[in-house]
Amino acid sequence: MSELILAFESSCDETSVAVIEDGTRILSNIIATQINSHKRFGGVVPEVASRHHVEQITEVIDLALKEAQVTYTDLTAVAVTYGPGLVGSLMIGVTAAKTVAFAHHLPLIPVNHMAGHIYAARFVQPLTYPLLALVVSGGHTELVTVEAPGEFAIIGDTRDDAAGEAYDKIGRVLGIPYPAGKEVDRLAHLGQDTFHFPRAMVDSDDLDFSFSGLKSAFINTVHHADQIGETLSREDLAASFQAAVIDVLVAKTMAALAAHPVAQLVLAGGVAANQGLRAALAAALATHHPDITLIVPPVRLTGDNAAMIGAAAHIELAHHHLADESLTATPGLNFPRASEAAPAVATGASQPQPVAAATEAQALAGQARAAQTPQPKSGQPDLGHRGEVVLPKPGPVRRRR
Ligand code: KG4
Ligand code: ZN
Repeated sequence: MSELILAFESSCDETSVAVIEDGTRILSNIIATQINSHKRFGGVVPEVASRHHVEQITEVIDLALKEAQVTYTDLTAVAVTYGPGLVGSLMIGVTAAKTVAFAHHLPLIPVNHMAGHIYAARFVQPLTYPLLALVVSGGHTELVTVEAPGEFAIIGDTRDDAAGEAYDKIGRVLGIPYPAGKEVDRLAHLGQDTFHFPRAMVDSDDLDFSFSGLKSAFINTVHHADQIGETLSREDLAASFQAAVIDVLVAKTMAALAAHPVAQLVLAGGVAANQGLRAALAAALATHHPDITLIVPPVRLTGDNAAMIGAAAHIELAHHHLADESLTATPGLNFPRASEAAPAVATGASQPQPVAAATEAQALAGQARAAQTPQPKSGQPDLGHRGEVVLPKPGPVRRRR
């Protein structure tokens, strides 16, 4: 009997519902994008986003079930993104998922949106642990270690703008409609890095990022040219911006790999669609870490979608990390920061180190053994390490297929 998860994603400007079989098979993945409604504002307008989610969610659920050729009674569980994201948008998905779970007596699985981005990689190939993920999206730029299934820790983070946000902001200056990343990427391949914008924090002794200085340097360059009546090459501007972003992302990722031996590197998030970044990471790995496998989801799964939420939910279900009707949107949800200080390592330099990679099944079995260690009892639901509500005794998992 297969496990069928109905997954919801509504954290930003995509209303998406998917049916995922056994965490790895996409039976359906319906994505209703609102981009056309937000374009004229140059970014996502939260109130407009919430209204679209409300209008679309019911139809998207129906389409997802229809395309997967399943009914509510076939489902094992319902999963939903409960953060991070826009509070109003998240609330629509959470409310819809809670309603389906309640009405059909199904377990409810709360999923961190960033975990979803990382677990999109499960649709490409089986994951081994520990692994490292570079998560680059419109709202986040993070280096995340995944020591075991569902165990995330941030070892590097942006101090200001996210990479995708910087793409969208400089794109606006170039007259490119929101979201600008894809078009900047296309232009970049037609130009050269002639402006040599700053590579902020590339030599810092940590794994953090900063993109707001780069964004300002870009905008100042364009404004200055405007003032003196000079026309700059849009292709060279895009190529110079992209080269600066990629140089820093790749250097920090190589530094993270040197300090955290893994067998797999996952590139995740909307910016993972970037052709230049994919190529540069693959080239750097071939030079510095030829033994590490780069896993990049197909472009249709790098942007926001519910299939990735279903993939992450499969892991949470295995851990019995379930929520009840008190689940609420958590806009500021984040992975914990690794407790140890980020190591001071020379960027780019690395010593190949052996890593004992565990398959997902091995890692899950190890976690289950550890969980059998008696825990102190409490009358309250346990607030798990990521803030989700973990019911002390999960309800029965219904499998009707
Ligand atoms: O993960 P995502 O779909 O939404 C968030 O969770 O933020 O990421 C959207 C971001 C946008 O900023 C968009 O401009 C960027 O991903 N993006 C790209 C590319 N395709 C999308 N950035 C650079 N190159 C691309 N090809
Ligand atoms: Zn996202």
